[in-house]
Amino acid sequence: MKEHLKKLFSIALVLVMVFALTACGSQDEGGNDPSPSSSTPPSGDKVPTIGVTMPTKSLQRWNEDGANVKAALEAKGYKVDLQYADNKQDIQNSQIENQITMGVDVLVIASIDGGALGGVLQQAKAANIPVIAYDRLITNTDKCDFYATFDNYGVGKMQGEFIESALNLDKGEKGPFTMECFGGDPGDNNAKLFNQGAMDVLQKYIDSGVIVVKSGQTKFPDQIAITNWESKGAQDRMDNLLTAYYADENIDIVLSPNDSLAQGIVASLKSAGYGSADKPFPVLTGQDCDKINVGQIIRGEQSMSIFKDTRVLADQVIAMTDALLSGETVPVNAEYDNGVIKVPSFNCQIKFANKDNWKELLVDSGYYELSDIPDAN
Ligand code: BGC
Repeated sequence: MKEHLKKLFSIALVLVMVFALTACGSQDEGGNDPSPSSSTPPSGDKVPTIGVTMPTKSLQRWNEDGANVKAALEAKGYKVDLQYADNKQDIQNSQIENQITMGVDVLVIASIDGGALGGVLQQAKAANIPVIAYDRLITNTDKCDFYATFDNYGVGKMQGEFIESALNLDKGEKGPFTMECFGGDPGDNNAKLFNQGAMDVLQKYIDSGVIVVKSGQTKFPDQIAITNWESKGAQDRMDNLLTAYYADENIDIVLSPNDSLAQGIVASLKSAGYGSADKPFPVLTGQDCDKINVGQIIRGEQSMSIFKDTRVLADQVIAMTDALLSGETVPVNAEYDNGVIKVPSFNCQIKFANKDNWKELLVDSGYYELSDIPDAN
């Protein structure tokens, strides 16, 4: 009898241990956070796969974005197929086609030429796969279901207002100040909005002669766009402008819509001898807070940038994905017209960055390590 009880007891003990181990195992699979709400993907038994396509590895921004989106989706228990397209829309289109064939549950797309995805998105439509445009609007199609981005017009406006206040234009300062304008890639809808936001602030000063654009080149995209947002393209254009129009006079302002262009512009300014008492660096704008550009800000070569926290954008995409897959209402706070439909959208917040607050914004928030930033100490 005693032997029989002993046997029963050890069987029960083994069962309890097996149960406990199984429970632990299923918590771990979902990621670091063991709470079921954050580790379980919202739909059914099958783990949903999310197809993520990013434009290029050649600019710092998209490496951060890709890594953040992948990590955040995986932490939620999703599978992720992440692809980079070397800034070529046809390559990205075949990546998306593969993801559709693979049977992904949601497509997250940071496009290259936002107007050139129509065909492949018709396949997504036929396969009933929701499409989230990531950061850049997908235009000229009715198959762009949602859009997660930052306040793009606000980025340009912040740059224009920075120039306005840095030179006291809003306080009646008459200059005149010399300026040249740069624009982003013509296929990127954001580039148009950045330009509009800045010019809505600055055009009146050009019209009144307080700002003088010696080249006369202000039209986006025809006169000022830089293909693929390449630093080298910006450097070459700046070299040409300095040689042609600024041989006898310094340039006071350069409107650059982002940091990759500002890198090329600074390289050009330095080789033309800017950075000395009689040739001080012009007021120069940017956006993204790329590590190299934070270094430029610290050294006084660039005046400001705009911090777009890609962790926040990634979280927004995850919130959209969760809602789509569980049939809940997708969170939106804006609407963008893509030429065919009005796309329900979410604008994340942008933050002004300069020499006074970069550390708090970027290092104290855990976005970068201090050692990531050139010349920081
Ligand atoms: C993004 C910017 C970025 C640029 C070049 C734009 O679509 O919104 O943050 O600087 O692409 O990568």
